[in-house]
Amino acid sequence: MTPRIALAALTLACLATLGHAQQAKLKVGLMLPYSGTYTALGVAIENGFKLRIEEQGGKLGGREIEYVKVDDESDPSKATDNVNKLIKRDNVDVIVGTVHSGVAMAMAKAAKESGTILIVPNAGADAVTGPMCAPNIFRSSFSNWQPAYAMGEVAAKQEKKKKAITITWKYAAGNESVNGFKDGFEKNGGQVTKQLNVPFPNVEFQALLTEIAAAKPDAVYAFFAGGGAVKFVKDYAAAGLNKTIPLYGPGFLTDGTLDAQGEAAQGMLTTLHYADGLNTPRDTSFRTAYAKAFKLQPDVYAVQGYDAAQMLGIGLAAVKGDITKKAEFAAAIEKTKIDSPRGSFSISKSHNPVQDIYLRKVDGKENKMISIASKSLADPARGCKM
Ligand code: PHB
Repeated sequence: MTPRIALAALTLACLATLGHAQQAKLKVGLMLPYSGTYTALGVAIENGFKLRIEEQGGKLGGREIEYVKVDDESDPSKATDNVNKLIKRDNVDVIVGTVHSGVAMAMAKAAKESGTILIVPNAGADAVTGPMCAPNIFRSSFSNWQPAYAMGEVAAKQEKKKKAITITWKYAAGNESVNGFKDGFEKNGGQVTKQLNVPFPNVEFQALLTEIAAAKPDAVYAFFAGGGAVKFVKDYAAAGLNKTIPLYGPGFLTDGTLDAQGEAAQGMLTTLHYADGLNTPRDTSFRTAYAKAFKLQPDVYAVQGYDAAQMLGIGLAAVKGDITKKAEFAAAIEKTKIDSPRGSFSISKSHNPVQDIYLRKVDGKENKMISIASKSLADPARGCKM
């Protein structure tokens, strides 16, 4: 072989390898709770994510998707080890997770340090798109401030409540949700008179319900979700409090939980970036496909998982599957409106959804849409420098 022919052969061989490499599967690390009070939320997120991938023929940006799963148990003390398993042991291309804000903050720190793309499909930790914001970190869900602030406004302006007590699990999500409510409520003339807490994921509420009954506020605002939300709403009704003191919350209090809450939740008002009865063609086709695939009605968590896959798809299409092109990947997501079942939304500079927050009312097994409580609400993104 002449040197020139040898060189040509080598070039061809390299090109073939490169072509092959580009077709390698994209490794998605799903870090979600598959045990504990948030199990149903983790499962709904995974279902929604996989539904979108299936709709795309199992591929995004020309690459087949492969999954590696970790059960994070909603345990912040295990979070750094768990996320490093995905980054260092499994060498994933992208991480999708998680539900719990404390776990998500550890994930954001590891993602920021390693540069791995992270898409958060639930956890609202304000810091993730605040002081911890980074070009490779995105959220398909909400910040804890968003639905909470909208509920504070509704409680004061529309429901004309003056004095409220808040109750939550004591961790980042609960604290920030209460702060968001207080922000919206007090700006509009209300006053939070007492803030009650229980440790996460404790569900012993009796002593605090007795305290609420004695204080007789005009309203109660609660942040709980999953199994804990079921228990809290039922205990509140069992104590007879729902007859005299309206219970408000971000929509997590009644989303994916109504089968179990039954009568106890009827009539409750909550605010969230998703609702039943939106009746848009986009939402209807999503709900039909989800129900067919999983024999279940979707909830907000399913939508967030689905939209995490949509965001990943938008980024990967722009870089033709080459996820190492991070700046182009991010630019594509930043400039595209995401055609979500919730209604289309955009991604802010800090990479959090700018979205409508709905006021919803529990009617039977549905969180029926009443109105848009806050149009195109953007998180203040305090502390994000990007
Ligand atoms: C959170 O920890 O950020 C969190 C968990 C469950 C929810 C909402 C927020 O439903």
